[in-house]
Amino acid sequence: MRHWTKLGEAPIPGSGKKLLLYRGKDDFSIRISGGFELMNTRKHASEDALGRLPCKRLKQTEAARVLIGGLGMGFTLAAVLKEVGARAEVTVAELIPEVVEWNRGPLGEFSGMPLNDPRTRIHVGDVARLLRESDGCFDVIALDVDNGPEGLTNSENDWLYSISGIAAAQKALRPIGVLAYWSANPDTAFQGRLRSCGLVVEEKTVFAHGNKGARHTIWLASLNE
Ligand SMILES: C[S@@+](CC[C@H](N)C(=O)[O-])C[C@H]1O[C@@H](n2cnc3c(N)ncnc32)[C@H](O)[C@@H]1O
Repeated sequence: MRHWTKLGEAPIPGSGKKLLLYRGKDDFSIRISGGFELMNTRKHASEDALGRLPCKRLKQTEAARVLIGGLGMGFTLAAVLKEVGARAEVTVAELIPEVVEWNRGPLGEFSGMPLNDPRTRIHVGDVARLLRESDGCFDVIALDVDNGPEGLTNSENDWLYSISGIAAAQKALRPIGVLAYWSANPDTAFQGRLRSCGLVVEEKTVFAHGNKGARHTIWLASLNE
């Protein structure tokens, strides 16, 4: 049996649950109290893709403005930083201050310490609030705050996947911007809501690791193809 050491815990605001950081022999795991694993450092290809795929669609990346919702283990942030140029600014909104602290320590080494990159701006708080205050600000908005539109950790995040949440994200985009959403599972109702907001939607299925096993869903949505 594998041995895990608990290194930290933090309350998840508004949920009564906790986020827990564990260290294994050569990996880390973030779990929700009750035992569900939110993510680990071994399987992050779909988190990487959430950062890479929308940035690949941009015509200019040199001075791109990107918003990421949910730092997690920093893989999406690291993937965005690989795609954008020296004058880019990448804002990461993270609800739980301890998650930011964990990424400043040994956990951050797994994603290459992207919080130390001079292009990174960290916003400790709710990405929903930031979206509402950011009209016309971003070329890419990449959201991964839970297990997907059917959240497991915090029902307050449901708004982000509602028609009004999608509309607020759309408003926070620059004219030729791209929205990207991560989900553990396909969700035709959510895809329908994106389309009903007038967005052109592409659904991608991405392996969590390598080329077999679990697959995750990423939606890319924009006003123009
Ligand atoms: C699944 S992880 C993100 C994984 C990330 N894509 C990566 O590459 O590691 C979800 C993160 O979103 C954060 N979060 C949850 N709700 C949030 C919200 N409303 N605003 C900002 N961050 C949130 C959680 O604390 C957690 O760190």
